[in-house]
Amino acid sequence: MRTFFLILFLVLLLAFGRGDNTAAGWPLHFGFGRIATTKEIAALNISIRPDGKGLPAGSGTVREGRAIYLMKCAACHGSTGVEGPQARLVAPMGDTTRAKAIGNYWPYATTLFDYTRRAMPYNAPGSLSAGEVYSLTAFLLYANKIIDSEKVINAASLPQVVMPAKKFFVTDDRRGGPEIR
Ligand code: HEC
Repeated sequence: MRTFFLILFLVLLLAFGRGDNTAAGWPLHFGFGRIATTKEIAALNISIRPDGKGLPAGSGTVREGRAIYLMKCAACHGSTGVEGPQARLVAPMGDTTRAKAIGNYWPYATTLFDYTRRAMPYNAPGSLSAGEVYSLTAFLLYANKIIDSEKVINAASLPQVVMPAKKFFVTDDRRGGPEIR
């Protein structure tokens, strides 16, 4: 009897388990979506590396950055970048409140350009020009006591800015242990 059931099981498996769920069995089109245009892909393909690769032409100053910041960022991040109500942007190294922000936590200056251009202002991401983002980057680096007020920020100077928190980041060289899967 047991053999009968085993054979029945195998027959059923052969009959119904024939890989109808594999990719080969799927329809070519699901009837929704469309191919992204080159322009749409280009708008999202804007990553900037820590060495500055990907930074666009243009430049910005602390002075211009402060003016843009007050118009487009202060409502959410506070007029000095400390008081919010949204994420705190200013916490120079040595800040005693233990808040983590650009000045005491971010390892690369280029991330500030990338993040601001890609995601801010929160209510209108992608709306800033390259010059505006360079200026905002300059202002936020200055506010975090990383550059002086006269520094011009562009594709050449930004990757040269060494973030104070970089030294706290270490390469993960663990090769075993329970936390490695
Ligand atoms: C409408 C509100 C709003 C405005 C306006 C806004 N932000 Fe933000 N910002 C946020 C929120 C919310 C977050 C946190 C987002 C998250 O964690 O996903 C954030 C996060 C950030 C961060 C990351 C902070 C960190 O350390 O994690 C930066 C940098 C930043 N904003 C810069 C800017 C700049 C520059 C502007 C002006 C161009 C701006 N923001 C305007 C709401 C806003």
